[in-house]
Amino acid sequence: MQETLKDKVNARRTFAIISHPDAGKTTMTEKLLFFGGAIRDAGTVKAKKTGKFATSDWMEIEKQRGISVTSSVMQFDFLGSRINILDTPGHQDFSEDTYRTLMAVDSAVMIVDAAKGIEAQTIKLFKVCRLRGIPIFTFINKLDRQGKEPLELMEELEEVLGIQSYAMNWPIGMGKEFLGIYDRYHHRIEQFRADGQDRFLPLNENGELAVDHSMKQTSYYTQALDDIMLLNEAGNEFDAEKVKNGEMTPVFFGSALTNFGVQTFLETYLEFAPTPQPRKTNEDVNVNPTDDEFSGFIFKIQANMNPAHRDRIAFLRIVSGKFERGMNVTLARTGKAFKLSNSTQFLADDREAVEEAVAGDIIGLHDTGNYQIGDTLTGGKKSFQYEKLPQFTPELFVKVTAKNVMKSKHFHKGILQLVQEGAIQYYKTLHTEEVILGAVGQLQFEVFEHRMKNEYNVEVRMEPIGSKIARWIENEGDVKESMSSPRSMLVRDRFDRYVFLFENEFAMRWFQDKNDSIQLYSLL
Ligand code: G4P
Repeated sequence: MQETLKDKVNARRTFAIISHPDAGKTTMTEKLLFFGGAIRDAGTVKAKKTGKFATSDWMEIEKQRGISVTSSVMQFDFLGSRINILDTPGHQDFSEDTYRTLMAVDSAVMIVDAAKGIEAQTIKLFKVCRLRGIPIFTFINKLDRQGKEPLELMEELEEVLGIQSYAMNWPIGMGKEFLGIYDRYHHRIEQFRADGQDRFLPLNENGELAVDHSMKQTSYYTQALDDIMLLNEAGNEFDAEKVKNGEMTPVFFGSALTNFGVQTFLETYLEFAPTPQPRKTNEDVNVNPTDDEFSGFIFKIQANMNPAHRDRIAFLRIVSGKFERGMNVTLARTGKAFKLSNSTQFLADDREAVEEAVAGDIIGLHDTGNYQIGDTLTGGKKSFQYEKLPQFTPELFVKVTAKNVMKSKHFHKGILQLVQEGAIQYYKTLHTEEVILGAVGQLQFEVFEHRMKNEYNVEVRMEPIGSKIARWIENEGDVKESMSSPRSMLVRDRFDRYVFLFENEFAMRWFQDKNDSIQLYSLL
């Protein structure tokens, strides 16, 4: 039977993993790909991470190895679903792209290290997911090591993140005494390090082990039963609707490294994870994924760091319809029509050119400078634009100048283009009009410097300035230039809006105490 567009779209699940560095994102990704048969060797993704080289050769080396771009989007099939995992780079690669990637997924998987609990980067990424109202699934990792008490972790989720949680399963012991998980959802116990038929043990109608087992004699088992009773009585009730709206997170415990609980997680995730969702245009019209006409938006542009190749790859999330090689599309921003031909690559493990992709999928478009972040491409007769992607509040700032003053024209042209493309944020001081750049991660500055040199032939000097916090102003009319000081510097952004750059939280509070009529706000 011919698979219809609807069948194909409904088989798609597109998500990102959000976590703090070292929680186990790479290990988890590897296990997931392994289940899907996308990799044979569970060391492939890890190989990517060992980068001991500088960021600039990093991309080049990775490109030669064919993994840099491919690992931005990974696709595999499992139990009739086609799964797209989008990478959210962390560490020194954390950037606005990391946030924007979350604009292109339909759900998120949050990995938490059981010993560390909720960490800083997780909180930042979580907030972006929360604002979008997308479902968030939690995997509490590293149960094979001693960690925090599970009840404490559940409390932390609710208190630090402010999201209701429901434990789909519950650990029985941990660390050296980790015996398995009590699976509330499947009504069974899954044993740690058990083979074949021993892996799942049935529960009776009272929720206790239905078979004779040495586990029953342990205090860990009794403790788990006590905890489950507490959760049943005082915990949240599972509510699929709340999960769908991102108001409740289903929580799973496991150990990615030992591949324990990962498959159960994946199977349950697939039951609840949303299929590709509709998206709003800037005229507030919903576009459905199963609409015949192709459309999508660009959420990330990855520059090639190799000076010999100036090309870039623009990542497009397909929102509706089907992409086919050679199809005609219109770039909504310019109204320009063109053919998406052999320049289009699909970012699979083998980097084959894609022949066909549907709503929910991500395609990589070869870009010679035509695209900007947030651009919409449409394949139908009527062109339209998707809602703007949000801007994110930067936390790092540098003052930038051209090393050679004679290059000033190129300098400004380069900055303008890179800012428009969404690579970096731009501010200028009030009278001297010095250029200040803002980023959410150091990598953005490095990419900026590299591209200025290679694409615009301008060497730049970048001096960090003390500021860490940017705040926009609701009541701009009340701002006076005399409010500016080195610790609370008043600048303008690229849209000429006033922005205060504060040295730190303390400087911001001090400013607010003195100027309580000024209403500050942050972007996302
Ligand atoms: P990340 O992508 O989130 O940064 O984390 P990654 O998967 O690289 O995992 C970070 C470290 O945590 C790795 O150890 C990894 O082996 C370990 N890890 C991941 N999952 C588990 C788990 O379930 N249990 C235990 N005990 N450890 C886990 P590493 O020593 O930094 O790297 P490696 O030398 O082991 O590769």
